Amino acid sequence: MTSFVYSEKPIRIERGEGPYLYGEDGSEYLDFGASYACVPLGHSRPEVTAAVSEQLERLTYVQGSYPVAARDALVERLSEVSPGDAEYVWLCNSGTEANEAALKFARSATGKTKFVATMQGFHGRTMGSLSTTWKSKYKEPFEPLIEDVEFVPYGDADALDDAIDESTAGFIVEPIQGEGGINPGTTEYLRAAREITEQAGAALIADEVQTGLGRTGTMWATEHAGIVPDITTSAKGLANGLPIGATLCKEWIAEGAGPHGSTFSGGPVVCAAADATLSIIEAEDVPAHAATIGEYLATELDAALGDAVRDIRGTGLMTGIEVKRGSNRLLRDLAIEHGVLALPAGRTVLRLLPPLTIEEEHADRVVEAISATTSAEATQ
Ligand SMILES: Cc1ncc(COP(=O)(O)O)c(C=O)c1O
Repeated sequence: MTSFVYSEKPIRIERGEGPYLYGEDGSEYLDFGASYACVPLGHSRPEVTAAVSEQLERLTYVQGSYPVAARDALVERLSEVSPGDAEYVWLCNSGTEANEAALKFARSATGKTKFVATMQGFHGRTMGSLSTTWKSKYKEPFEPLIEDVEFVPYGDADALDDAIDESTAGFIVEPIQGEGGINPGTTEYLRAAREITEQAGAALIADEVQTGLGRTGTMWATEHAGIVPDITTSAKGLANGLPIGATLCKEWIAEGAGPHGSTFSGGPVVCAAADATLSIIEAEDVPAHAATIGEYLATELDAALGDAVRDIRGTGLMTGIEVKRGSNRLLRDLAIEHGVLALPAGRTVLRLLPPLTIEEEHADRVVEAISATTSAEATQ
């Protein structure tokens, strides 16, 4: 049997601790992608491990229709941190599932069918979420998908206004596009999106799978614009490395939601991990730390890279560096020669999504490594 779909990287990982991963050969790597942003508190955070171990011993799993303390505690914690009056939650297992549910709930709550989504947007790979994802490379082999989706240029409020009509169930948008190249949505744009959807009776769905949980310096990236979406989706780092997704909804969405379900929804072990993760994010004010260290990183990158790159953009600890040539070789050199792991966002953007608990010393090491690899490339 061969595991397929992913092309494997030439590094075998054995264990992780804080912002570091360790290879089977003992090599150390600074994980500045946080393994797809899934470990906001760093690898193998002891408090999360303890919460998981304790829950594993007591009760590993029971179907979602039986109330259990671990799920109750997580739901309570989510209601403390959820955006505005989004007081209802559907728990699932991944980002694409959280968005899949958001699309279904938007349809059933509005009784309408059309979705508006953004060019360069990414919302996942199951059929519904994939239909609202932009890149044709991800979609073409699986068509036909949901056809009632209109794509508009990201950041263009007039185009959004034109696209949203009386048949629109929802507009799905990332407050900062991640996979699409770290493209921040302006306050004006996100406020216009809030107003336009509200006037049309359509749901505003903020996909915060990548931007949420403090990464941009606030718990949710929509807070920067002072808006409350009808639905906010979360996943990735919510259980600091265990699979979970959450669809946070306002009352009118939850009341109108049609039948939905999933066997592993809100299992006690993953709930215990997420509750422990959120309790640390709150207690240590991790979003504020991400804002401070993110500003430090941006300043240092600006000073070190200057004209060697086309652009440096982002908010908090969500950074995109647009390089002059393709990012693939750079990523490989960073990993192999400097022990720094980062992510791509398209062909020309280097994406940094480190654990939110990094310190200046980690930022310094990465700035130095990126500076060395970009200048080595420029001389070739
Ligand atoms: C903004 C956004 N939405 C949705 C997803 C899909 O999440 P998952 O891979 O957990 O299904 C991703 C994954 O990268 C994402 O970045």
